[in-house]
Formats: sequence, C-alpha cells, structure tokens
Amino acid sequence: MTKVITYGTFDLFHEGHYRLLQRAKALGDYLIVGVTTENYDKARGKLNVVDDLMTRIENVKKTGFADEIIIEETIGQKVSDVQKYKVDIFTVGSDWLGNFDYMADYCKVVYLERTKDVSSTMLRNRNFKIQRIGIIGTGRITGRFLMEAKSVSGINIQGAYNPHKKSTEQFAGRYEINAFETLEELYEKTEIVYVASPHETHYEYVKDALEHDKHVICEKPFVLKKEQAAELFDIAKQRNKILFEGIKTAYCPGFTKLMDVARSGLVGNIRYVDACFTKLENTESRELTDTKYGGSFLELGSYCLLPVIKLLGCEYEDISFDSIYGAGHIDLFTKASLKFPKGLATVTCGLGVKSEGRLLIAGTEGYIVAEAPWWKTTYFEVHYEDASKIEKYSERFLGDGLRYEISDMLNQINGNHKSEFKLTRTESITISGIMEAFLKKENRG
Ligand code: CTP
Repeated sequence: MTKVITYGTFDLFHEGHYRLLQRAKALGDYLIVGVTTENYDKARGKLNVVDDLMTRIENVKKTGFADEIIIEETIGQKVSDVQKYKVDIFTVGSDWLGNFDYMADYCKVVYLERTKDVSSTMLRNRNFKIQRIGIIGTGRITGRFLMEAKSVSGINIQGAYNPHKKSTEQFAGRYEINAFETLEELYEKTEIVYVASPHETHYEYVKDALEHDKHVICEKPFVLKKEQAAELFDIAKQRNKILFEGIKTAYCPGFTKLMDVARSGLVGNIRYVDACFTKLENTESRELTDTKYGGSFLELGSYCLLPVIKLLGCEYEDISFDSIYGAGHIDLFTKASLKFPKGLATVTCGLGVKSEGRLLIAGTEGYIVAEAPWWKTTYFEVHYEDASKIEKYSERFLGDGLRYEISDMLNQINGNHKSEFKLTRTESITISGIMEAFLKKENRG
C-alpha cells in the first residue's frame, strides 16, 4: 500500500484545494491530510485565517479523498509524521517548489501543479473589503505599527494626524503615507483609527473617533480613569464598533498559550502572580521628564497588570504602591502590591532601576516561570515540588508583535473569531482604574 501525505490550512475551501487533494490521493492508495491549527498558522505569520479548525477539517473530509486527517501543530512536525505514519510520498502544491526537498531523505517528494487564479488569500480579500487605518500620533510606536501592519493582509494605512503639522509631514514623508491636516480628513478616508498620542489625550481622541463611527485600537495605557474607560466601551457597543486596547502581549501566541496553561489547572489553583518589567530610559526622554504623565508605572504597568488580572481576576480587594523617585518626583521604579480574595500579586516596573524582569505564576501544585522578555513570550517552564520534573513550552513571536493585535482587530471587524477577545472590556477598564488609583496616590490625578 502506498501512503501519501499532504498539508495545508485549507481556509475558505476552494477549487485549488479540491484538485490538490484529488491528485494527491491518486498518487497512492492511502491519503493522510495534515490541517494546520490556528496557533501554528499565527506562529508562521499566516494571520488572517477565517475558518476555524473544525470547519477546515470538515471541508477536507467532505471531499472524500482523505483517508485520515491529522493536525499540524508545530514546525518540524512533517518529518516525524512521515516516520510515524510510514509515509511513501510527501506532496504539496508547486507554490512550495524546492521548499520541501529536504524531505527526500525520508520519502519521495512530489510538487503538484498549483491551480491557477484561486487562493484563500484572494478569497479573503474579495469577501472582506480592505480596512483603511488612520493613525493619530507620530511617535516611535507608530513607526513600528506601520512596519508591522505590512504583515497583515486586508488592511491599508492611509495616513497620520498630529496637531503639530510639521511632525505629521515629516512622519508621513518617511513612511510614504498621507499627512492629514484635520481629524475630519482622517475620518473621511478610514474605517479604523489607531490612537497612539500622549496618554492623557487618549480619552478625547478615542471618544471622537467612536462618535465618527470608527473602530479604534488605542495604545496602552488606554485611559487614566475607570469611568472614562467604561464610557468609551459603552459608546463602542452602542455604535457596534470594535474597541481594542493595544497591549501587544495580550494578543501574541506565546502569551495566550501561557495563559491557557496557567488556567488549565496544571499548577493547581493560582495563588500568586509576580510580574516585573524594567527598561532603562534616557533621562531626557518624555517618559522621564513628563512630571504629570511620565514615569515607570504609567509606561510599563499595563504589561505587568495583564497576567495578574487575567489569572486572579478584576475584583482585587486592596492595592498599594511604593516608588523610588527621580527628578521632578517622577517614579523611576514602582512596586504595586495587590490583594485578591484568593491570592496576591506584585507588579514591578522600572525606567531608572534595572531588574531581572520575570513573570512568575505560583499555584497550589507548581509554578510557571517566564524570563524577560516575557512580554514578548517565546518560552516558559512549568515546575513542580519534584525539582527534576520540568515542562518546557515555546512559541514563536514574529517581528515586533503588533501584527497579532492588528490581525485580531481585523478578524473582529470581519466577524470572524467572535469569541476571541484576548483582552476583554472588563480587563481594560480594571487596568484604567488601577492607573487612576496610582495617579491619585501620587497627587497627579
Ligand atoms: N493549492 C493549490 N492550488 C491553489 C491553492 C492551493 O494547489 N490555487 C495547494 C497548496 O499548494 C497546498 C494546498 O493546496 O498544497 C493547501 O494550500 P493552502 O495554503 O491551504 O491554500 P492557499 O489558497 O494557497 O492559501 P493562502 O492564500 O492563504 O496561502
């Protein structure tokens, strides 16, 4: 019996897929089809897959060509599958020509002619109209956002707005996008607004954009008052618009896996979360000179609070802050301690004091540890009382990571993965409330 194997995403199942499977089956007697998981696709940069795994498997099954369907979850799995299933022929479409020659060490490799003029990408672009993005703010993060947006299909960055005309023109020139002179002009040409202006201006810009019926991604920290955060989410709901807080960690595959493992019960009940993020900043930077809205907690607190509230909940009983200050009474280093009904947490941020930057999640049966930069999670370990037992997990993190939140936003807008809010409204509102409590304690409120 000749065994054949092939792999694919098989999103929005089309004629090209059908013909590929038909010919793959004809190469032998028994066809195994590997269908990719969403996480695997995300990790390899294929971000806008529409159909969920079950739908894609069902569609492959319906063709009647597959004798067996398996899941493709990791890079490097193909070789072990070929050995495990004693495969004779590995086949894929000719768009992969040359890419799998290394498989010839294990079995015969056949590239089948790709069907012309059809692909999942084409169908996705046809089904969903391109979403145009306008940027408010022209700082460092917006440059990164622009570069990352290039990896997401289905969007187009139209241009940027900043009340300082000269900065807008310089920025727009550098990235070859429009320099909008007014917000009205930006709204006319866009469906999504990315707010990356100074922290204290987020509320007004987000509100205005939502009231102009735009979807909004807002940089962290979202807003600095709990009530304002709740109000903005209410407006978004009323107007049926998507509103996202852009804490990039929340959307990246490694961090979502870490949260899944933590919530799975593997380390028992979670009782303590300790998150630390430090980044030494230039003393002349905005972060260390803006006496009202600068400082380490406002800058980095959102990242550290994210695992805390995701794992211990939004209902904390008590919070206290201790800081080390620099010139202008700006916090160079802040430690927040939170008390929950069934757990404790500490969050440590530094712009002027360096620490090891680790995420530790302690449970009743073990603990999970992710070293810096855990906010771009690629690796973590699970430890137990028996010190010799360690489980290791790894996941890819592509580019600067912003591509994951952009593609999630797009999926939400297009109505795919409806339940996939990786950072919920309640979580964002809670973080805004903690920012407010910090500013109040600092008499900066
Ligand atoms: N395929 C094909 N002819 C097409 C499209 C795909 O023969 N017109 C083959 C691919 O070469 C691969 C398999 O079908 O062997 C699954 O491909 P997949 O990546 O799922 O489909 P694409 O349409 O290429 O998806 P995308 O546009 O997202 O890359």
